[in-house]
Amino acid sequence: MTGAESIEIFSVIRERRSVRNYTDRDVPEEGLRAIIAAGIQAPTALGLQPWRFVIVKDRALIQQVSDYCKPILIERIGEEGGAGTEEFLAALKTPVFSIFYNAPVLVLVLGAREAVSSFLDCALCAENMMLAAWALGIGSCWIGSAALVQERPDLLAALKVPDDHQIVAPLIFGYPGPLSPKPVRREPRIDWVP
Ligand SMILES: Cc1cc2nc3c(=O)[nH]c(=O)nc-3n(C[C@H](O)[C@H](O)[C@H](O)COP(=O)(O)O)c2cc1C
Repeated sequence: MTGAESIEIFSVIRERRSVRNYTDRDVPEEGLRAIIAAGIQAPTALGLQPWRFVIVKDRALIQQVSDYCKPILIERIGEEGGAGTEEFLAALKTPVFSIFYNAPVLVLVLGAREAVSSFLDCALCAENMMLAAWALGIGSCWIGSAALVQERPDLLAALKVPDDHQIVAPLIFGYPGPLSPKPVRREPRIDWVP
């Protein structure tokens, strides 16, 4: 690897942020394939590569998933509360709000249930995908709220999620509209031994 390449990866890591505002521009198939190709370079326990992917462009189906998840989220967040939830709760209560922020594409990273480390492996894959997307000028956001759809067998079938896999990372992708500032990172606590 050249020095230039290593600087490039650090700037992509540093600059990537979750995008919640998208233009209508479609993400081309080759872009999505390049993103997945980067995803599958992630390390996996025992080298199992326990993932598969569903690319959802059907806006009506994406809307249906959002419509299903919203009232459940309102109820759960309302009950549990927690730091930083007020803004999200208020957005959820807005009828036009989509938990997918009107992104043109949703990619589900599915993990094989039988694999020993499916969740961690797929999370590493997802981060590679989000970084690769950013490098291509494509924004992304992990929509953890969408995992609730696993309680709806009919939607799971429509999303082509097989019984022996679970949704680990619901990721949206699209070309960013105006960006909000990147959330500031706290100084990490680092202990050195010795
Ligand atoms: C497991 C996981 C679940 C997340 N779920 C959501 C979500 O449901 N909705 C959302 O808007 N952002 C979600 N995010 C994005 C985080 O809010 C975001 O990564 C965090 O605020 C830091 O901002 P940054 O990604 O711009 O650095 C999720 C991120 C992770 C890792």
